[in-house]
Amino acid sequence: MKYRTIGMNPKTSREVSVLALGTHLFGTVTGEATSFALLDRYVQAGGTFIDTAGNYAFWVNGTQGGESEELLGRWRRSRGAGEEIVIATKLGARPQAPGTSFTDNAEGLSARVIRESSQRSRDRLGMDRLDLLYAHIDDPKVPLGETVEAFAAQVAAGTVGLLGVSNHWAWQVERARSLAAAAGLPGYEVLQYQHSYLRPRTDLPGSRSPDGIPGMAGGDLLSYLRAEPQLTMVAYSSLIRGGYVRPDRLAAAEFAEYDHPGTRVRLAALREVAKDADATVNQVVLAWLIGAQIPVIPVVGASSVAQLDESLAAVNLELTTEQRARLDAAR
Ligand SMILES: NC(=O)c1ccc[n+]([C@@H]2O[C@H](COP(=O)([O-])OP(=O)(O)OC[C@H]3O[C@@H](n4cnc5c(N)ncnc54)[C@H](OP(=O)(O)O)[C@@H]3O)[C@@H](O)[C@H]2O)c1
Repeated sequence: MKYRTIGMNPKTSREVSVLALGTHLFGTVTGEATSFALLDRYVQAGGTFIDTAGNYAFWVNGTQGGESEELLGRWRRSRGAGEEIVIATKLGARPQAPGTSFTDNAEGLSARVIRESSQRSRDRLGMDRLDLLYAHIDDPKVPLGETVEAFAAQVAAGTVGLLGVSNHWAWQVERARSLAAAAGLPGYEVLQYQHSYLRPRTDLPGSRSPDGIPGMAGGDLLSYLRAEPQLTMVAYSSLIRGGYVRPDRLAAAEFAEYDHPGTRVRLAALREVAKDADATVNQVVLAWLIGAQIPVIPVVGASSVAQLDESLAAVNLELTTEQRARLDAAR
């Protein structure tokens, strides 16, 4: 395993593995025994960065979520896991009632929600302090200053270590960080977005905005990260839920943004480099992200130990300058 530091302040920064484990289906679609086996295998391989959210996985059984955090709490207790494992969670996108969603009934980012949901996550995870807490989605109804102050209050109280943000437009992240900096408060330091080797169309309206999908890393966000290299980029759905090796997944409506002529070209380059590097296509994607100019921590999902092992092996795959150039040139 390889490690890197997240967070800028030496007092709050943490060392984490360059590959994170996503657990959004743990405790629902993925049963307890398999979830525990995946977590154990990840830790055995040196993994130290686990990703969850207070609303995972509300959509599976029509609940408000919390099953993934609860499972992680049971796993932490049974394994005696402590400070060595960094657990990131999220709030703001939990539906306010069973059977609803974050698209129509999200809890949002008010001071009250931040206080109460943070506490609920700590209870479910069995942690006095959340290592990293993200704002899961934006909340246009709450003044940004209220959100910034409420997150900072969690850090001041010692109930949260680092702050992160997910699925916000780049300008919202910059505005929140500016407000925090001007007030001398801690701001978002870790950014979590959908990002992979395939390039998404950014002109399609999203479920929460007619202007697009704010969770999709596009040029605005990548240029922001390039200008602020002390921030950490975490990428989700980097394997396109298996779409690189399962055409049915890539063709699914939820990934319509990859349905354009450039995808074919990039897939062909990927296959060539994978052959050349004696690696799988998934591993080339992960290695391309981990070793990129703007280095990315992919948070991978897996429903079997074999899938996880394939992703873990990508950490040791070093693409040559020529292989990387070939991948970058494909468009
Ligand atoms: N911030 C956010 O809004 C947000 C959104 C989405 C996800 N996330 C986080 O990111 C994590 C990962 O998300 P994701 O599941 O969408 O990402 P992903 O890593 O692209 O997809 C994981 C899925 O891909 C398939 N897969 C994995 N390895 C494979 C392999 N070697 N061969 C074939 N198929 C393989 C498996 O599907 P099967 O199980 O069907 O085989 C697995 O469940 C989540 O658990 C969550 O923590 C965050």
